[in-house]
Amino acid sequence: MHKVLLLLLFILLHFRAPKNEIDAEFSSHCPYCRVAEGPSPCNGCDKNMTCFILSEYERFKKQAVKGVLTNTFEDRHFYPQNWRCDIKKMRKKYEFIRYSSDPTKQLMEDLFTIARRQGKLPKRAKNISAQTLCAQKLACAPQFRKYETMLRVSPKYKIVNCVVQKSMSTMMTGAMCYLYDEKEYENTGRSFDDEFNGRLCKSQNEFSSVNDVRNKYNISLRQSGWSFSMVVRHPIDRFVSGYVDRCVRLLVMNATAQCNGCRLNMTCFIENEYKRLMQISYKRKTRRTMEDAHFFPQVWHCDLPDEREFFEFLPYSTDSEEEFMPHFEDLLQRQDVCTYI
Ligand SMILES: *[C@@H]1O[C@H](CO)[C@@H](O)[C@H](O)[C@H]1NC(C)=O
Ligand SMILES: *[C@@H]1O[C@H](CO)[C@@H](O)[C@H](O)[C@H]1NC(C)=O
Ligand SMILES: *[C@@H]1O[C@H](CO)[C@@H](O)[C@H](O)[C@H]1NC(C)=O
Ligand SMILES: *[C@@H]1O[C@H](CO)[C@@H](O)[C@H](O)[C@H]1NC(C)=O
Ligand SMILES: *[C@@H]1O[C@H](CO)[C@@H](O)[C@H](O)[C@H]1NC(C)=O
Repeated sequence: MHKVLLLLLFILLHFRAPKNEIDAEFSSHCPYCRVAEGPSPCNGCDKNMTCFILSEYERFKKQAVKGVLTNTFEDRHFYPQNWRCDIKKMRKKYEFIRYSSDPTKQLMEDLFTIARRQGKLPKRAKNISAQTLCAQKLACAPQFRKYETMLRVSPKYKIVNCVVQKSMSTMMTGAMCYLYDEKEYENTGRSFDDEFNGRLCKSQNEFSSVNDVRNKYNISLRQSGWSFSMVVRHPIDRFVSGYVDRCVRLLVMNATAQCNGCRLNMTCFIENEYKRLMQISYKRKTRRTMEDAHFFPQVWHCDLPDEREFFEFLPYSTDSEEEFMPHFEDLLQRQDVCTYI
């Protein structure tokens, strides 16, 4: 098999998230059926899905027809959703919030609609648009500012990728290191997950400014055959993901100094981080924290204020099959990765 296919498959597996109800049910079913818990997990069917569905359906029928009440782990996970919540009586009174593995999509939309109607969101402090507000001097952080640039280069394929925390940075770092020297990467027997613990290509294919890369590889400004790219993620999605990493997970590990010392108080965290953003913008404060790297705007990275026109933007997606992969595949093809490997 083509190695490039392996590479793509690897990325795919790494980032696949459940897509719909069937997917989600299946994924909750699978680990369970693999883990022996109690005398006969998965109705004693092991991994035979036919057996499981048939036996669970027998249980449905018993419950529905004979009123035999059972409440096993399987029953709770597989009995229909509309058997719950007193639906028969209450159906008209309920509002349904759509599940989504990416909460910025349907879930947030539905929740905000309800919260607004119930008057639970605070009133706006000023009745002016963001544009009007930010036209005032020093009212908002500047849209463009050079903050941090981390480039990963594959000279062989003329690919430059700029990584930003919380936007597949580890995965892209691994992929670029692989494309920097496939043989070396394979010889080490590494997988991209290992990049978390230490970067194989550290200080070999890494640069901190676009101009440094241009100078090193003599890349002209026009028609160079080089590809510059960056993965971009929906800002709210990126915020939530960063918040879970820096504030929730680290707190569980007793790292209370992280998250600006705010523990789980999100108001505190946002206010503090915004203060830092404004200080770095206007007061030339320079000390940088991990929080800054995770939460400062993506447009402050990658030398975008000067180099925007040279970049191609790859949309981040939790389900990489959806948006990211077609774009990335296209890029790899254009750079002839398939022909060489
Ligand atoms: C799976 O379960 C079904 C129904 O119980 C049974 O007919 C079939 O032989 C099983 N298949 C395997 C591979 O065990
Ligand atoms: C806010 O401004 C809009 C348009 O400028 C206006 O229609 C609306 O009545 C204002 N709302 C309040 C509460 O002042
Ligand atoms: C750099 O590239 C230009 C063309 O883009 C070429 O004329 C020049 O000789 C190259 N310089 C080096 C040192 O390779
Ligand atoms: C965190 O601290 C609590 C209380 O001091 C302790 O019980 C727990 O084991 C600690 N957790 C870790 C991961 O160190
Ligand atoms: C959360 O932080 C804000 C801002 O620092 C503070 O006003 C508020 O009292 C805090 N809430 C709690 C529950 O500690």
